[in-house]
Amino acid sequence: MTSSLDDIGNAQEAAKRNLWLHFTRMSGYADSDVPVIVRGSGAYVFDQHGRRYLDGLSGLFVSQVGHGRQEIAEAGARQAGELAYFPLWSYAHPKAIELAQRLADLAPGDLNRVFFTTSGSEAVESAWKLAKQYFKLTGQPERYKVISRDIAYHGSSMGALAITGLADIKYPFEPLTPGGVRVPNTNFYRAPAFVRDDLEAFGIWAADEIERAILREGPKSVAAVFLEPVQNSGGCFPPPPGYFQRVREICDRYGVLLVSDEVICAFGRLGYYFGAERYGYQPDIITFAKGVTSGYAPLGGMLVSDTLMEPFSSGTATFLHGITFAGHPVSTAVALANLDIFEKEDLLGNVRANEAAFRATLEKLYDLPIVGDVRGAGYFYGIEMVKDKVTRETFTSEESERLLRGFLSQALFDAGLVCRADDRGDPVVQLAPPLICGQEHFDEIERILRAVLTEAWARL
Ligand SMILES: Cc1ncc(COP(=O)(O)O)c(C=O)c1O
Repeated sequence: MTSSLDDIGNAQEAAKRNLWLHFTRMSGYADSDVPVIVRGSGAYVFDQHGRRYLDGLSGLFVSQVGHGRQEIAEAGARQAGELAYFPLWSYAHPKAIELAQRLADLAPGDLNRVFFTTSGSEAVESAWKLAKQYFKLTGQPERYKVISRDIAYHGSSMGALAITGLADIKYPFEPLTPGGVRVPNTNFYRAPAFVRDDLEAFGIWAADEIERAILREGPKSVAAVFLEPVQNSGGCFPPPPGYFQRVREICDRYGVLLVSDEVICAFGRLGYYFGAERYGYQPDIITFAKGVTSGYAPLGGMLVSDTLMEPFSSGTATFLHGITFAGHPVSTAVALANLDIFEKEDLLGNVRANEAAFRATLEKLYDLPIVGDVRGAGYFYGIEMVKDKVTRETFTSEESERLLRGFLSQALFDAGLVCRADDRGDPVVQLAPPLICGQEHFDEIERILRAVLTEAWARL
């Protein structure tokens, strides 16, 4: 049965009856409305009732240039009119070529080859497949394992899930692709006692854990290490000084590839086109998605070094992998228009000029008893909530459930802020506003968080 969805009631009913939301408890909407976002403008989105929300998460770490950019929409429409679709299987099209060249120019070092996908999970999946095939072609067929960090999220498809370090979202789908190995992340707030007071020593220890894992697994069996520049899951863990330099040395020592998973951290989130630039390391592969189009069309991909491409450059060698919609003409046209805005408005400059103010504004919240740690970089921050600031005691699962799902997520949204209250590690609120934001947006975020976190504490 169909009915006019212009009617808010009909749309609600259809949303509940026919739509399946991702990573969402559908039972949670039995007695409440599904939030329906109908339009966006700049740093704000509007729901079906016309209520305005500050998009403090850029949708899902996506909307770098903000919402409602007509020039990007028009670039997509123009491309659809000219050539809506053609595959990158044996053919090229102008926008894919132009974007590949532009990304190669922007990327650090010899990352000169772009393999497009439609999403971040596919980018991660592609990087693992490339690593495996590369080693088979170069006489090391036993290298297939991948090392990644505790609690890190690298995607939801079966391969990417095997790289992901979140037990709860893996368990229902086991057995997964074999070869995923976990090492500690760089959560300094929860560092082991023996390195708790020394950030640099903590970083060296965390990097050396990668070497210990390689040795444990057998150095000749490990293909790649997957790391985000700043780890998202768990609430924004920046790398300690020297961490990535040490990891690079370790990877070189054992012939292991370093994959920088920049699905969130690329395209200005940290004030640079790529997070690897900010932290001064050279990856063998960068995976990207999200911000490359600011969400005006889906696109992902991997940037690959000349060395990795080399065995595929002659004879019959072929990377036996492809995706119908990868590098879609509309998406690549949109990505180019998105990058034009980055340049015209100096969005990287905006993030670099304002990131200290963003941090300082969030740090005002330290006067609240529930705020344990404020951490992150660029326009990418996590606020960890604790029961006791002095002991850093966290909440029980029951308290966390009551706090996050029972109150915080809804209360923050009701107060006009889109952000993420998450407990995939310890309970955190995460923020990643569009890169166009400035002090007035930071103040609005702080004001809403202050009111809602104060009430959350009173309810505990
Ligand atoms: C670091 C990282 N890798 C991979 C992914 C998966 O991307 P997608 O949801 O586009 O498949 C994500 C998604 O948030 C991510 O944050």
